[in-house]
Amino acid sequence: MPNSSELIVWSNTFACGIKVIDDQHKELVELVNDMFNHVTGNEDQERDYLNKILQEAVKYIRVHFATEEKIMIATKFSGYTEHKKAHEDFILTVADNIKNFTLGKRLTLIFFSRFLKDWVLSHIAVMDKQYFEYFRRIATRKPDGTLSITASDVKKL
Ligand SMILES: [Fe+2]
Ligand SMILES: [Fe+2]
Repeated sequence: MPNSSELIVWSNTFACGIKVIDDQHKELVELVNDMFNHVTGNEDQERDYLNKILQEAVKYIRVHFATEEKIMIATKFSGYTEHKKAHEDFILTVADNIKNFTLGKRLTLIFFSRFLKDWVLSHIAVMDKQYFEYFRRIATRKPDGTLSITASDVKKL
């Protein structure tokens, strides 16, 4: 049965303030929680679910990484190279897991969910956090109160 104590509860300590980033991070948290909610311990059920979710998850993670990297390049963020490397290493590890899975090796959902959770949380808390303050200083506050980085913000740099 799903173990609700494994679920990630979104906290403001994860928030950057830039809307597009926070929205994507929340989606990643939801993805991880969705995975935990599908943990049954039944190999067939979990394999069906993983077959459905894995490609979608990777696609979503790639979109998120691309968003961060695009903003880092536009804002000339000094930690870009190191950050991009962390993203690439992670994608390679995930791709490895998926390859083994498609080759028939058992990938338990609880293992993969925990791996994803640990990586997402520590990456947000450590690496992503390094750009939070920097992005916030560059961003413009929109009338609805949210922060976004616009082309004219970047032009001023
Ligand atoms: Fe991120
Ligand atoms: Fe990141």
